[in-house]
Amino acid sequence: MKKAIVLCAGKGTRLRPLTFTTAKHLIPIANKPILFYSLENIARAGIEEVGIVVSPHNAEEFKNIVGTGENFGLKISYIIQEEPKGLAHAVWVSREFLGDEDFMMYLGDNLILEDLGKFVKDFENSDCAASILLSPVKDPTRFGVAVMEGDRVIKVVEKPKIPPSNLAIVGLYLFKSKIFEGIKNIKPSWRGELEITDAIEYLIEKGEKVRGYIVYGWWKDTGKPEDLLEANRKILMETTEELLGEMDDKSSIQGPVKIGKSSKIVNSVIRGPVVIGENCFIKNSYVGPYSSIGNSVILEDCEVENSIVMDECSITGVEKRIDSSILGKGVSVKGSQKRPASLNLILGDMSRVEL
Ligand code: G1P
Repeated sequence: MKKAIVLCAGKGTRLRPLTFTTAKHLIPIANKPILFYSLENIARAGIEEVGIVVSPHNAEEFKNIVGTGENFGLKISYIIQEEPKGLAHAVWVSREFLGDEDFMMYLGDNLILEDLGKFVKDFENSDCAASILLSPVKDPTRFGVAVMEGDRVIKVVEKPKIPPSNLAIVGLYLFKSKIFEGIKNIKPSWRGELEITDAIEYLIEKGEKVRGYIVYGWWKDTGKPEDLLEANRKILMETTEELLGEMDDKSSIQGPVKIGKSSKIVNSVIRGPVVIGENCFIKNSYVGPYSSIGNSVILEDCEVENSIVMDECSITGVEKRIDSSILGKGVSVKGSQKRPASLNLILGDMSRVEL
């Protein structure tokens, strides 16, 4: 299998306001866009050509940040899905790119750390029309759900009210071009989308073989802020020490910490796992476990833990610890001693503050 499509056209409404300026797939986890982890995993599975399905409004951002794919050892092209009409519709608009070859479909907001190589090989050696990744979940009503018999999938249903099993469809699918026959024969669902789950069910009903491959490892559909923080924690667990910046002798570093070039740590405690980007200035502060600090960030007289702080943020003179927070690019949080003691907020649309 040489080709994959990665679906990145979704709007990410549950991650607003972050997604007003950044596509959800490009939000950094441990200082690297979510999508990069997926592209690396896809390249490791032996895929050579990737079509990233984008919307007209986010196409430029993807082209700028992801580029031609050279850095991943992939040849990347961009496919525009004019309207968000569902996953099956995204496959349909990719038909020229895919031709009649077997292909992988990857939902760009899913973080799957599982090795995909074996999954691809098994499919290539089989006579299945599709193969899907499944994972047992507590709340199957939020997902596509599969019923298995042995390793064969005998039914799939999208977001069932009464789930027939606890096996959720994880965002990775392998298809033969027969899937197009399924797509041609389905109607939009209650949410007005052409569901890939319905196209798979069509193939099953026609007697085609669909294989289910249960993963017990970690995966995450990064749709909500708390999912991003969980993904951040998971990736940071693998941090290894790398200290490229400078640190004075009043500072201490504990556990696995990465500090980028030209960053300066003064009279502070950094307790890993933590990654800190380049050109940061951290003074009289504490950076606690599971924090990702981007490039050119200033932290002064503050405490940050279990948070994602993106490039060019500045947090100064804040007494309470900032915890489980996500700060977009260039955000400024500043404590003030001025009287009357008050909160002075300038927040963009749909910002969220908990005091
Ligand atoms: C989509 C699929 C669903 C799958 C899920 C995985 O749902 O339709 O079958 O289980 O991704 O993340 P959506 O994210 O569009 O609600």
